[in-house]
Amino acid sequence: MTLGKEKISFINVPTPIEKLNTVSGELGINLYMKRDDLTNYGTGGNKLRKLEYFIKDARDKGATMLLTVGGAQTNHGRLTAAVAAKFGMKAAIVAVDEYPGEISANLLLDGIMGCPVYLVRNDETRSEGQLLKKAVAKVTDEWTAKGEKVYFIPLGGSNELGALGYYDCALEMADQVKEMKLDNVHIITTVGSMGTYIGLAAAIANEPLDMKVTGIGISPKDDIHQFAADYYDRLKKAYGLKVDLKAQDFDLNSDFDYGGYNNPVDDVRQAIYYMGRKEGIILDPCYTGKTFNAIMKLAKDGKLNKNENYIMIHTGGVPGIYTKHHRSLMEEELMSYMHII
Ligand SMILES: Cc1ncc(COP(=O)(O)O)c(C=O)c1O
Repeated sequence: MTLGKEKISFINVPTPIEKLNTVSGELGINLYMKRDDLTNYGTGGNKLRKLEYFIKDARDKGATMLLTVGGAQTNHGRLTAAVAAKFGMKAAIVAVDEYPGEISANLLLDGIMGCPVYLVRNDETRSEGQLLKKAVAKVTDEWTAKGEKVYFIPLGGSNELGALGYYDCALEMADQVKEMKLDNVHIITTVGSMGTYIGLAAAIANEPLDMKVTGIGISPKDDIHQFAADYYDRLKKAYGLKVDLKAQDFDLNSDFDYGGYNNPVDDVRQAIYYMGRKEGIILDPCYTGKTFNAIMKLAKDGKLNKNENYIMIHTGGVPGIYTKHHRSLMEEELMSYMHII
């Protein structure tokens, strides 16, 4: 029970925190990784922590089906499909996106887990939000007519309930770093729909926990600090949190979003190769690769503190490397590793 809300615990926690020895040595910082990519359903990732709360709420409400939204390659959708499968429910994903021309990466995994994906074409006459709303209503009606009770999970699982998954993760990390005798702990995490970051920040401020957290934005937002303040206020109101946080209290960095969501970026691919070659850990091009690229650049510019112990959360997303637009560039770049003898 966290802040009065119950969850169904089904994840293999605590996930490991590992020191990245080679990368730390080469970048001249102390860098650890919290392996939330190793969570145990649907190939893992951060959304499973949020889904522990959603599945409890959905079952309490008598739902038989989980419905969520995102891009065609949504990791959150894939993990929603996994959790639905595990709990004997149906799932569906609605996305405003083009058909990418092949069923690969998350789309392939969605199909394997029996989750239909409904793609809606972007059209100039309506906003993406309007298109999504209309499509969600249509798909909900269709499944309701077939006898299902549909439970809707918002984009990225980032509402007041979903954020509790990472409120819990902050508590878990506080226990782990105590046992590891690590002080000056500074968490770095990716910011998409922000549930992960805001859950961590809320726990750190309110418990309180002796740690810091920095969020790395991976796609442009109008005002990322105000976005955080508004989200935190919703949490504060929902759970009666005591601490006031203003926009400037949130440590968020948008300098490394490269102007787009899930766009192919040379620097990010180089960061992915570097991590793979130095630590044997695979990052993804949309989220964790962008975050690690930011860490590398900040370290090289002397902007990270040598006295701090940085812990990057690996939030998963690895299936993303198999999407056509990322994979084809990597195939070209990595051709020299292929030998036919
Ligand atoms: C792999 C991965 N990392 C990070 C994030 C960002 O998490 P949040 O949406 O909670 O900010 C996502 C969100 O979809 C994700 O799939």
